[in-house]
Amino acid sequence: MKIKGLIFDLDGVIVSTEINHFDAWSAIAEQLSIEFNEADNEKIKGLSRSDSLDVICDLGSIQLTYYEKLEYLELKNKMYLDSIQSLNKDDLLPGVLHLLKQAKKKDLKLALGSSSKNAKYILQKLFITDYFDVIIDGNDVESPKPDPEVFLKGAEGMGLNVEDIVVFEDAESGILAAQTGGFYTVAVGNRKLKNCADECIDHLGEFLLKNYE
Ligand code: G6P
Ligand code: MG
Repeated sequence: MKIKGLIFDLDGVIVSTEINHFDAWSAIAEQLSIEFNEADNEKIKGLSRSDSLDVICDLGSIQLTYYEKLEYLELKNKMYLDSIQSLNKDDLLPGVLHLLKQAKKKDLKLALGSSSKNAKYILQKLFITDYFDVIIDGNDVESPKPDPEVFLKGAEGMGLNVEDIVVFEDAESGILAAQTGGFYTVAVGNRKLKNCADECIDHLGEFLLKNYE
């Protein structure tokens, strides 16, 4: 495969914010008296904020009203944002900067494909916004992951065909989305995905562009 473009998920691929999402959801689940553990968290990784709350409520067989749901979503986001206040370049996961720089040198197109509505804010905090030709986040899609819309919009923005693009993902919902869209998939930092992704690596430092020229 000769790669022409790369699409990166954000949380858990570029930056170590998955733990902050998990901690905030754990606090919400506790308020709702719902048992929520790391295995449950695997099911919501990559989903939109709203879909994540639905899954957590299903775990506890709880039904919230429309307004209760809005309140919990706001509270979760407030806790999450408070916890990432001091996020900075040191929180970039291993190999990220090197791969972004190498890809730029080789004139590859780069896109972000994230379910997060906080994606642009986080990229700014990490000082890596300018590496991306296209940024598609939770504000830009009607159908969140596992629907392929976020990645298809990324491909369209880059002006490339899906078969020329690699998608990096740490979540099952994201790998499914990319596969449904017809992309080459690389699971990052999640060995449980090794059977469903085309490739599985521990961090982006293991992905060598020279193997795809
Ligand atoms: C990411 C994370 C999820 C998170 C979702 C929404 O893809 O993997 O854990 O729930 O985005 O993020 P947001 O920042 O909009 O709440
Ligand atoms: Mg992720």
